[in-house]
Amino acid sequence: MSARAGSPAETPNPVPLRGVDVAPFYAGKIGRQAAEQARAGQSIIPMHFGQPTAGTPPKALAAAARVLEADPTGYVESRELIERIARYYRDSHGLEIAPARILLTAGASAALVAVFAGLFEPGDRIGVGRPGYPAYRNAVRALGREAVEIDCGAEVGFRLSAAAIGAVAPGLHGLVVASPANPTGAMLSRAQLAALARECRRLGIRLISDEIYHGLSYGEPAVSALEVDDDAVVINSFSKLYRMPGWRLGWMVAPPALATRLSPYVVNFFLTPPTISQHAALAAFEDSAELERSLASYRVNRELLLAGLRSMGIDKVSPPEGAFYLYADVGHLTRDSLAFCQQLLRETGIATAPGIDFDTLHGHRFIRFSFAVSTGEVRRALELLAPWVARQPRLEG
Ligand SMILES: Cc1ncc(COP(=O)(O)O)c(C=O)c1O
Repeated sequence: MSARAGSPAETPNPVPLRGVDVAPFYAGKIGRQAAEQARAGQSIIPMHFGQPTAGTPPKALAAAARVLEADPTGYVESRELIERIARYYRDSHGLEIAPARILLTAGASAALVAVFAGLFEPGDRIGVGRPGYPAYRNAVRALGREAVEIDCGAEVGFRLSAAAIGAVAPGLHGLVVASPANPTGAMLSRAQLAALARECRRLGIRLISDEIYHGLSYGEPAVSALEVDDDAVVINSFSKLYRMPGWRLGWMVAPPALATRLSPYVVNFFLTPPTISQHAALAAFEDSAELERSLASYRVNRELLLAGLRSMGIDKVSPPEGAFYLYADVGHLTRDSLAFCQQLLRETGIATAPGIDFDTLHGHRFIRFSFAVSTGEVRRALELLAPWVARQPRLEG
């Protein structure tokens, strides 16, 4: 049967493609391969996504189950949750944050989009660390702002510094900082964060602090940017410490005038975050024993992974001070981190994230392990990895 005149089979698309071409998350490719291998019956160790495998804290699940009975279908912005978040700042950081400064969002992702859209103009230059979380650069570009990548590699301990910001020319309009950082787990001390905030203020740069990994540190607790600069815009989420990534819930804190500016952005883009998640999150705050157990197991996993990788000759790894990632230089084994992760997954079932997600320049020689898995899975991964690494040819340089 022939296609009718004017049918889609005959007419080339007359509408030119517009919009910004944005890079994918390459870890997603690994995720799809892992799912395929799992469907084929292979056992997978999921160290590719930043996704705690222990699941939602029981108290949060129980609260959600109770709320389900009551049919939670309305748009809701939980005043109780906002007040509980304000209490978190009082208890953990000694800060009084007026509830009007707190906006609930569908994860940190929605907060980032609202901030990039609402606080900047087309063409504005927003600094992001390299390596860094890929959505910073990709979302900034998608919104017609310019992502200015600032090198913060191993030579500077993977930390953004006031000096590096001052050296960017021409200057920046905004800066995104994360401490602990993804993918390295590097953290800024109070003095370093304060110096960064001072430099931003001096240069008129809007400071955005992504605090999604707060509560997950192995030495000193993380300092909130709000402790050193009341004007910082802070983003946080229930995805990591609270183990609720699929519930799509986060928040941001902004100075009053900026909260007033950002609130319509959040509402117009996303309306309210999921209602059931807000009830569950309120209960998650009360499950601290469970969250401490997670942190204790990440601590064990971190030690095991660091020692295990070192014993295999993967020793160019900065011990992460926070988060649950280990960013490993595997440049002696590959110059194509995506192909390397794909082969590793195919041959061992260990799923990892390729460095090109985080660093477009040097990421071809890095991979990231998430150790937010069980300790048994970390042990098993090391058992599988050691003979596999030993079989790989070594590269020069
Ligand atoms: C540094 C960082 N910021 C933001 C996000 C997005 O998190 P959410 O699930 O809250 O949208 C992630 C997710 O991995 C992340 O690593």
